[in-house]
Amino acid sequence: MRMSGVFRLLAFTFALVTTWIFIRSYMNFSMKTIRLPRWLSSSTKETRAVQTKCSISKPCPANFFAFKICSGAANVVGPSMCFEDHVIMSPVKNNVGRGLNIALVNASSGTVLRHSSFDMYSGDVNLLVKFLKEIPGSTLVLVASYDDPGTRMNAESRMLFSNLGSSYAVQLGFRDSWVFLGARDLKSKSPFEQFLKNNPGTNKYEGWPELLELEGCVPQKMV
Ligand SMILES: *[C@@H]1O[C@H](CO)[C@@H](O)[C@H](O)[C@H]1NC(C)=O
Ligand SMILES: *[C@@H]1O[C@H](CO)[C@@H](O)[C@H](O)[C@H]1NC(C)=O
Repeated sequence: MRMSGVFRLLAFTFALVTTWIFIRSYMNFSMKTIRLPRWLSSSTKETRAVQTKCSISKPCPANFFAFKICSGAANVVGPSMCFEDHVIMSPVKNNVGRGLNIALVNASSGTVLRHSSFDMYSGDVNLLVKFLKEIPGSTLVLVASYDDPGTRMNAESRMLFSNLGSSYAVQLGFRDSWVFLGARDLKSKSPFEQFLKNNPGTNKYEGWPELLELEGCVPQKMV
């Protein structure tokens, strides 16, 4: 009886000590595993820091502005425009409209001057002509189509867009998709433009071509 009592005490102490050792090593192990996610999370922070303005595919060099313009999808999802990580127009901001969506940005400071939507199916094209004529010097012009940007286009509005560097404004028509970044005082055609003709044979949606996405880096204009 006495022997087994001592033995029990020994067994209990042994169990206590091994449990303690086990817990110590387990704690050490768990401390190591805690360090691993910390190290991982610090590396995710690094990838986050690399994330580009407007989520464009490559970061822009210094003295360049990042931008991304998406046209509307059919007559369902509105277009969006991002400039230097600032969303100027989008369905979430509830400030887009069918037709042409246009934002004006100061080409040296990158600040938004104004933005507006023009109904090009049943609206008055003279409102668009007036808006385009009043664009101040050294201004970037961002354009995104939604549903129908073309029906009300006239010779004067086409010419004003061509003067901003557009190659496709001359042929913009009913339900075409169009995204464009141009500028006042541009002496050549803008490299930032995409255009899809409304073509029943190739349309992605019934009645509308695919939506377009345009992104890039535009050089800051020094004053
Ligand atoms: C736990 O880590 C400490 C400090 O790193 C060390 O001194 C100790 O021996 C470790 N214990 C075990 C059980 O590995
Ligand atoms: C654009 O920004 C520059 C520099 O901040 C400023 O001098 C100029 O007046 C601005 N232009 C317009 C049209 O706001």
